[in-house]
Amino acid sequence: MALPILLQKKLLQKLENLPMRVLVTGGHGFVGAWILKILHARGDEPIVFDLHDNARRLEVLYPIGQTPQFVFQSGDVTKLEDLLKAIDSHNIEKIIHLAGLQVPTCRQNPHLGMSVNVGGTLNVLEAARLRRDMVNRVVYASSAAVFSPAEAYPTGPLADDVPLNPGTHYGWFKICNEGNALVYHREHGVPSVGLRPWTVYGVGRDVGMTSEPTRGLKCLALNRPHLINYGGWQDMQFVEDVAAAFVACLSGDYKGPKSYNLRGAVVDMQQFLDAVAEVEPASRRLLSFKGGQLPIAWDLCDRAIQTDYGPIPAVSLVEGIRKTLNAFRSLEAEGRLDKNDLGA
Ligand SMILES: NC(=O)c1ccc[n+]([C@@H]2O[C@H](COP(=O)([O-])OP(=O)(O)OC[C@H]3O[C@@H](n4cnc5c(N)ncnc54)[C@H](O)[C@@H]3O)[C@@H](O)[C@H]2O)c1
Repeated sequence: MALPILLQKKLLQKLENLPMRVLVTGGHGFVGAWILKILHARGDEPIVFDLHDNARRLEVLYPIGQTPQFVFQSGDVTKLEDLLKAIDSHNIEKIIHLAGLQVPTCRQNPHLGMSVNVGGTLNVLEAARLRRDMVNRVVYASSAAVFSPAEAYPTGPLADDVPLNPGTHYGWFKICNEGNALVYHREHGVPSVGLRPWTVYGVGRDVGMTSEPTRGLKCLALNRPHLINYGGWQDMQFVEDVAAAFVACLSGDYKGPKSYNLRGAVVDMQQFLDAVAEVEPASRRLLSFKGGQLPIAWDLCDRAIQTDYGPIPAVSLVEGIRKTLNAFRSLEAEGRLDKNDLGA
């Protein structure tokens, strides 16, 4: 006998509130650390899957000595057997797949980029297919780098499904992943959701082409000058909001194998620096930029994700900057600020 709709809904809600066992590939990276923090705070059971057991980006998100002990599974996404071992050993139900190489590495070494970004994602989808009885959703990091330069489009916020013709290997690798996710769903029923962040900023952002604004904030916290090496428009997305978007897509009714745009604060570099100066006026003499537009459309519409999995939070740019700057200052006062990304 079918259950009444209200009872069905209540049962579903109850199931959704149960702790989830989530494998987070690239969990020791920047976005991964913030996702682990959110999952832990919700009472879920994240398992960190990464090449290295270096939790430095995670530790700086907690007061000294208070970082929770996360289960760590050493592994390489280019090895299917590593992923299967992790899923089996930890009874994994959901996967957040972040492991990947960023634009500069993919540019310098496209074969390596293909192997990790495309081959690794293919392995995650294949592992989910092979363990279809256990894994019921894959949420993976695509990127706004899938878009062509803005000149290729009419003005106005762009929907998720406009034509894509990026200028980088990295962008094409991410498109390839989105396509493979569609095929895995169509042919094998593997449920996946792709998310396309633009510039994610916040504590822990220390590699990649768009890490410059965060590096600028770190220099400001140290009272050091910094020249950001590009200009033009970008969508600045606070890391905690992006992490919340990944977590939101683990639950809720599944809306199909789709890739979603995200949206934070769309600003040009001068507007970003003006927002920084609103928080810390000294930035006017310390931070500057030189260079042109990154070749990625920046005015993206996030209506689809807000409708399907929202509301997805978005702090104001000034608030995101304030939080990041304050955190960098506290870390510096405690002798815990990592300066390895700042050079001499
Ligand atoms: N940070 C951004 O602004 C941004 C924007 C768009 C998309 N993304 C995507 O989001 C994801 C996470 O970005 P991030 O900024 O946290 O990156 P990150 O470089 O900080 O972290 C990536 C993590 O993946 C791990 N990793 C690399 N190769 C691996 C492998 N073969 N096997 C297992 N682990 C491996 C690294 O050790 C690292 O901990 C990436 O896929 C990235 O392309 C990021």
